Amino acid sequence: MARAATIFLAFTILTVSSLLISTNSHHFSKNLNQREMGISTKREKLSHLHFYFHDIVSGRSPTAVRVAEAVATNSSATGFGIMMMIDDPLTAGPDMSSEIVGRAQGLYASADLSQMGLLMALNFAFLEGKFNGSTLSVLGRNAVFSAVREMPIVGGSGVFRFARGYAQARTHFFDLKTADAVVEYNVYVLHY
Ligand SMILES: *[C@@H]1O[C@H](CO)[C@@H](O)[C@H](O)[C@H]1NC(C)=O
Ligand SMILES: *[C@@H]1O[C@H](CO)[C@@H](O)[C@H](O)[C@H]1NC(C)=O
Repeated sequence: MARAATIFLAFTILTVSSLLISTNSHHFSKNLNQREMGISTKREKLSHLHFYFHDIVSGRSPTAVRVAEAVATNSSATGFGIMMMIDDPLTAGPDMSSEIVGRAQGLYASADLSQMGLLMALNFAFLEGKFNGSTLSVLGRNAVFSAVREMPIVGGSGVFRFARGYAQARTHFFDLKTADAVVEYNVYVLHY
C-alpha cells in the first residue's frame, strides 16, 4: 500500500515537472537536437583566412570617415575619442586591384589616452566563394604601431556560426601624408 502511494507520488511529481518544463520551453527557450541542427555529427574545423584590409581615409571616395571626436581631442597625443566608421575593401593580395574577397564594416575608435590603441568593433562581410554572405565579428584592441596586433573573433554567421578565434594584423603599407593604410590580416577561426 505504502509502496503504491510512493509510486503514485513519484509519477505525479514527474508528470507535473515535465508539464512545467514543456510549458517553459514553449514560452521562451527549449533544448534542440544538435544532430537535427546539423552540428553534433560534424567536428569543428579550423580555417585560416588571409587578406589585405584597405583603410582609405583620403581622396574623393574614402572608405573610412570620421564620425565623432572629443571636444578635447586636439590636446591628446593619441586623438583619444576620435571614432571612424568604415566600409573597407578586403582583397586577396596587397594590391587594391586584386580580387575583392569581402569588406570590413563597422568602426574603430581611439580608446587609449597615452599610446595608440584602437577599439575595433567591426564585421568582416565575405563576398567570395563558400564564404559569400557569411560574416565574422571582431571586437578587440589594436595597438596600430606594434608589428603584430591580435584581436579576438567573437562570433560569426552563415558558415561561421558558433565561430571563435583570433585575427593577427600587420601593417603592410602606411602613407604618412594621407594616412591611408594597407593591413595584412591572418584570421584563424574554429567553426562547424
Ligand atoms: C582639431 O584639429 C583639427 C585640425 O587641426 C580641426 O579641423 C578640428 O576642428 C579640431 N577639433 C576640435 C574639436 O577642436
Ligand atoms: C555572392 O552572393 C550574392 C547574393 O547571393 C550574389 O549576388 C553574388 O553574385 C555572389 N558573389 C559571388 C562571387 O559568388
